Amino acid sequence: MILPPKTVPITIKRGVSGGASYEETFDVPYTEGMSVLDAVVWIRGHVDSSIAFRYSCVNANACKECMVLVNGKTEYACTARLSLEGTIVGPLENKTLIRDLVTDIVPPKENLRVILSGSGR
Ligand code: FES
Repeated sequence: MILPPKTVPITIKRGVSGGASYEETFDVPYTEGMSVLDAVVWIRGHVDSSIAFRYSCVNANACKECMVLVNGKTEYACTARLSLEGTIVGPLENKTLIRDLVTDIVPPKENLRVILSGSGR
């Protein structure tokens, strides 16, 4: 019988808009079926409270706020599973970076700044 590892590595691409970016790797306690979001929540709660990420519904796949790149593919962090060999998580590359895993995902027509500035207010 092969036991799952006690911890798995997860690398998070971090940085702020217009600033230098860097990668940080954390060893996260592993439980079977654990999602990428579970790991990031654990890191923020136990290791580094400064990691920025966004989520709302958690596993309902309804809010779409947790979209990130997982090993180079666009995924929902709440449904993407951790890889035992390691997982690399980064912000969406086709969106404006705000900080760490948070990007501006608001559709342009729903962006309040655009609406207000376009209305002359
Ligand atoms: S947290 Fe809502 S879709 Fe992932």
